[in-house]
Amino acid sequence: MTAILSARGLTVRYPGARRPAVENVSFDLSVGSTLAVVGESGSGKSTIALAISRLLDPAVEIRADLLTFEGRDLLTMDRAGLRRLRARRIAMVFQSPFGSWNPTRTIGAQLTDGLRAAGIWPSGRDRLLTLLRRVGIHEPADRLRDYPHQFSGGMLQRAMIAGALVARPSLLIADEPTSALDTTVQAEILDILDELRDEHQLALMLISHDLGVVARVASSTLVLYGGRLVESGPTTALYRNAGHPYTRALLAAAPRLDGPRKVRLPALAPGPVVDHGCAFAPRCPQAESRCAETTPGLRPVSGLNVACHLAETPRST
Ligand SMILES: Nc1ncnc2c1ncn2[C@@H]1O[C@H](COP(=O)(O)OP(=O)(O)OP(=O)(O)O)[C@@H](O)[C@H]1O
Ligand SMILES: [Mg+2]
Repeated sequence: MTAILSARGLTVRYPGARRPAVENVSFDLSVGSTLAVVGESGSGKSTIALAISRLLDPAVEIRADLLTFEGRDLLTMDRAGLRRLRARRIAMVFQSPFGSWNPTRTIGAQLTDGLRAAGIWPSGRDRLLTLLRRVGIHEPADRLRDYPHQFSGGMLQRAMIAGALVARPSLLIADEPTSALDTTVQAEILDILDELRDEHQLALMLISHDLGVVARVASSTLVLYGGRLVESGPTTALYRNAGHPYTRALLAAAPRLDGPRKVRLPALAPGPVVDHGCAFAPRCPQAESRCAETTPGLRPVSGLNVACHLAETPRST
């Protein structure tokens, strides 16, 4: 499958920061597939999302050997082009259902803004109503007159997803779309995203601090630690053969793919900033002296790419 979103060596540095928030990250995302981006708080997940949609302040330094969407260079695109892209081709859903809506305006007025920005008002209204029904909002024409406080958190996220898809984007970036919701609603929303990805042939980037939450719907996964990619590859291989001790720690805290979906972060203390060596070494139960000295590069191990000196392909004896 051809990638619609490709990054090679993506590096992002906030002004004045000692180290990049995202460093040398590469990935591909194809139409119809889901890429999970996981890692604990501060690992750079949202920064990747904001770099792709070019929503970072111009003072933030973004570098990459390649950053393309639908074959176009995102780094050199002008502001008008980026605005068009965000209105029509790249949709985003964020974590906080309440923070994403203006409490003083109706749901309908706010969704209409999106249709106008995409140049599909009023023609897109029927599609919006269909999408609202599709995500589980009954009598949508009536509900559009409601204010955000009249919706539950889960309903606001559903409305956000419907609004995000109305302009027929090809990429949906969902940044912790369910973290603020309770477990049952979380599962329902993820299922809706997964079904819509299939029905609309979307490329879906699903950001979460919980590997267990996204593993069920993501075909491949990026694991970030301290802004660096520590492991990536097919999600099933990651579950079977995780090569990086950090991924294994995440998995130990997450449920099995088919098991109960009660998830907790691993009880690991925040890691110190390291200038050389593996960023995870100070917290790694298996660290050796070379781990603190040389930064491990990503290399193929058992069907995954792993940045760990100690990862080995099991010998078949
Ligand atoms: N606007 C900003 N200015 C300066 N530093 C920032 C800014 N936004 C994020 N950072 C820093 O960049 C790093 C990555 O942050 P980012 O928000 O991308 O992490 P995250 O993985 O999305 O975390 P979370 O799970 O908490 O959402 C962190 O060290 C953070 O402090
Ligand atoms: Mg974030």
